[in-house]
Amino acid sequence: MKAEFIAVVNKLEEGRSLDKKEYRLLIESACDETFDFIREKAIKVRGKIYGRGVYIRGLIEISNICKNNCLYCGIRKDNGLCQRYRLSDEEILLCCKEGYDLGFRTFVLQGGEDPFFTDDRLCGIIGQIKSRFSNCAVTLSLGERSTESYERLFKAGADRYLLRHETADKSHYERLHPSDMSFENRIKCLYELKSIGYQVGCGFMVGSPYQNSDTLAADLKFIETFEPDMCGIGPFIPHRDTPFGEMPAGSVFLTCYLLSIIRLIKPNILLPATTALSTLDKNGREKGILSGANVVMPNLSPESVRGKYELYNGKAHSGAESAQLVKELCRSMEKIGHSVLTERGDIKK
Ligand code: 5AD
Repeated sequence: MKAEFIAVVNKLEEGRSLDKKEYRLLIESACDETFDFIREKAIKVRGKIYGRGVYIRGLIEISNICKNNCLYCGIRKDNGLCQRYRLSDEEILLCCKEGYDLGFRTFVLQGGEDPFFTDDRLCGIIGQIKSRFSNCAVTLSLGERSTESYERLFKAGADRYLLRHETADKSHYERLHPSDMSFENRIKCLYELKSIGYQVGCGFMVGSPYQNSDTLAADLKFIETFEPDMCGIGPFIPHRDTPFGEMPAGSVFLTCYLLSIIRLIKPNILLPATTALSTLDKNGREKGILSGANVVMPNLSPESVRGKYELYNGKAHSGAESAQLVKELCRSMEKIGHSVLTERGDIKK
């Protein structure tokens, strides 16, 4: 290992901050040896704060109807081959009930930007979840909405919001999204969510088309300065019915390497081992946890719609990806020396 690399890692450990050039050096140095070096430090800082516990979140995919046309995404508006669905209030509450009985204390309502889910409707759903399961956290992952909407949903009881920034480089953002979406608005939404009081998650895909070490360095710098409570990263996986259908998938290795770096930037961050990671590698979840992740998000959506929320081809939704198999998940975490925690799992400050 080069002395320069070690010096930069030490600087990150001590000050939790690097300039973009230094982040680029870390990214460009990725190999087995540097990964082991960084990973060990990442696991150590995580251990001091969270021990060996892994938080679980029940993911409920409430709608795959979306008004946007993100070039990478399988549920983009123009994908006429996607079978659309949305869940009713009753179905969503049933998922929560089932999840609650399985031990979940966080429900993540995720969906495309579906105009059917108005503020009134969502406030009603959130209110019901919070009154029936008052010791649970509600996380929303419903894309870009107005300030007023974010405020109303927060007042209704939502605790957290996930909105991946997708890339912190404006020109890269514009190559991944159609011209009616804006980088500025994406970032504005994130800052707004934070100032309203949500615990906020950002994130990006690893290996998205046109990504390079510069754009990745910008992502890391963004995470450092924005200080999210959560950060979702997973490999890009092409979906055949999108403009990026022929693009190569991202790397499991680089995803894990970046998980370790993000843990070092923000030791107390909540970092999921994502479904995309498990989709590309049957041991992806374990690898993610062993790289510094401390959250997993099994799927609580009704069996009948699960295959339809296909952001990318082959999306895993059975086995330990399915919330019904919490026991299997516990076993797999125990095998690698970790234990599943059934508590809300807020960020430790
Ligand atoms: N591969 C991997 N991740 C994807 N997402 C969307 N499409 C893909 C894909 N093809 C991610 C985006 C989005 C999140 C819900 O899923 O980052 O924010």
